[in-house]
Amino acid sequence: MSYSYNDRLKIRGGKRLNGEIRVQTSKNATLPIMSASLLAQGRVLLRDCPDIIDVENMVKILRELGAKIDRVGDDYSIDSSSILDVCLDYELCKTMRSSIFLLGSILARFKSVCLTLPGGCKIGRRPIDIHVQAFRRLKVKVIELDDFVFFNASKARAGKIKLKIPSVGATENIVQFASTLKGKTVIYNSAREPEVVDLCNFLNKMGAKIYGAGTRKITIFGVDKLKGVEYKPIADRIVLGTLLVATAICGGTIRLTNANSHQNEKLIEILSRMGCQINIKNDIIMLSRDVPLRSIPKISTGYYPQFPTDLQSIIMVLSCLANGQTEIDERIFENRFLIVDELKKMGAKIELIDNHTAIVDGVDSLKASNLKALDLRGGASLVLAGLVAQGETIIENVHYIDRGYCHIEKMLKSLGADIERI
Ligand code: UD1
Repeated sequence: MSYSYNDRLKIRGGKRLNGEIRVQTSKNATLPIMSASLLAQGRVLLRDCPDIIDVENMVKILRELGAKIDRVGDDYSIDSSSILDVCLDYELCKTMRSSIFLLGSILARFKSVCLTLPGGCKIGRRPIDIHVQAFRRLKVKVIELDDFVFFNASKARAGKIKLKIPSVGATENIVQFASTLKGKTVIYNSAREPEVVDLCNFLNKMGAKIYGAGTRKITIFGVDKLKGVEYKPIADRIVLGTLLVATAICGGTIRLTNANSHQNEKLIEILSRMGCQINIKNDIIMLSRDVPLRSIPKISTGYYPQFPTDLQSIIMVLSCLANGQTEIDERIFENRFLIVDELKKMGAKIELIDNHTAIVDGVDSLKASNLKALDLRGGASLVLAGLVAQGETIIENVHYIDRGYCHIEKMLKSLGADIERI
């Protein structure tokens, strides 16, 4: 890893993108899987993990807990059999919302934990009430204080849970917790995201009995123990989407391998309607864009399989350059238009109606500017805007982008972009 906190990106816009990239492994699949590796009695070998800051932080947290972790290339061997301590490092948890995903596995294994309220992007309040309610349904005792929450699972019992909304994190926590909880636990209104399915596949490979992953009802029959296994998490559908949109913005032809088109149907449909040519064969997606971009009237984010909130700011940049008007409707988070002011500096025409709705009017071009990344996906979106802007764009706070993208500048450079890390 060669990331540093003060890194900036310098981009000279205007190059078309051409070439082939193998899509990196999914951050949002890898993190909960790393957490669930705490449940194994034995060594877990995770293949091809993404070289990103969030994974680095998760490894630090697991090591802090006492796990023995060896890294060879992008493979991690995780052995947590000797862990005794369950006190999570306050500062690390603050920087990464994913520490919340440790709750399910730690509680399953150690029966009690005190968690600092999680941090992460500035995209919304990101409360944990759904997690808390779900654990309470399983008779876990929860005491909430200002900055800390105590959980005690010594009297936990399997049961039925109906999630108020299909929270990805809450579903993943309960699935981890219930895997070794005696009896039958059912989660109604469970999240259906591919990363949830991947976590369940991993747990099942370890010996869990989880049924219905990918549907609205997941059933878990608790087993006595889980064994160490070798596993390779799925590819990152958000990075995949970012690269497709980058090519749609700049023009050119990209060939993505390790690319699952089924997990990206909504995006592919939108890009086709906007004027991109897309060909799919097995795990290869090819996209070319040679004609001017056409806007589409409305894009709304939603739970899988709807359009992902994590690609909302990315598609906003594309809409800024399309012919016509697009209404962007953010239905998952309440503060996910952080990039609007930065894009306006570049000459974009965007009107914020409220926290959930933005109206974008396409312009002919964007102009280079000095920009600040304020969150992970918004930061990547600014990079895409820089790739097409006339002149030299500087992006600060690249550490947000490094949380989820493996060396974004190397990927884009390999496609012909004029971009460097300074
Ligand atoms: C995960 C993803 C994130 C993605 C999000 C939605 C990871 C590491 N992160 O986040 O990239 O944007 O799914 O697809 O996998 N909510 C509550 N109370 C709760 C929990 C959630 O009100 O206890 C709300 C959130 O504020 C949000 C919505 O539910 O408005 C969805 O959140 P959730 O699905 O839990 O997202 P995360 O698991 O945090």
